[in-house]
Amino acid sequence: MKTVLVAAGPTRERIDPVRFISNRSTGAFGYEIAREALRRGMRAVLVSGPTELVPPKEARLVRVGSALEMRRAVMKELAGADFVVMAAAVCDWRPRRPLVSKIKRRGGRIRLELIENPDIAAEVGRKKGKRVLVGFALETETLERNAREKLKKKNLDIIVANMLSPSKDVFGPGKTDVVIIDRAGHKTAARNKSKRELAEIIVGKMIQ
Ligand code: CTP
Repeated sequence: MKTVLVAAGPTRERIDPVRFISNRSTGAFGYEIAREALRRGMRAVLVSGPTELVPPKEARLVRVGSALEMRRAVMKELAGADFVVMAAAVCDWRPRRPLVSKIKRRGGRIRLELIENPDIAAEVGRKKGKRVLVGFALETETLERNAREKLKKKNLDIIVANMLSPSKDVFGPGKTDVVIIDRAGHKTAARNKSKRELAEIIVGKMIQ
């Protein structure tokens, strides 16, 4: 039985005990991919950032908060995985010094220093061996060129590129457009499809 490791949802980067930096990811795409893998009789390990979604019962769920926690969980689960899908919206930066007590309001401005988080997909790409690695790209401009660059830079086998547009529900449960590009350069465009329909297409390509 093959195992799919899916990283989904946003990460949260702690500023102080009550505040964090995050992003608009809901986890919908990654959860649908885990569901589709299960429907096809595969095992699914779902490494999930904080979401409101109900995880599929048959998946093994590993909950994480920050990018560093997600990285640790993904690297730990990698050994047992045949496929890795990085659908998570990993925060690219984290506060350099998370504070142990709540920041008080004192009037005037405060400065928040951010440092870069590790690139989990790229690290999996370096250690992937025979595994198939699927990544995502969310862009606001030059979708295809950026996606092809990410595919190469992170040593992915497939990249699913999403264009952020006000008329499409990129983050939520609604329909969206994607372009799927593989290592050989083949491109498939899928328009106005639900995340479930897209998950069927992506998992189909992945196991091919
Ligand atoms: N990714 C990751 N670790 C990060 C950032 C991104 O594993 N620290 C993964 C995402 O899960 C996704 C892919 O890399 O599969 C592309 O994410 P994206 O945010 O589009 O790309 P970045 O490399 O962060 O590039 P940029 O933000 O500059 O467009």
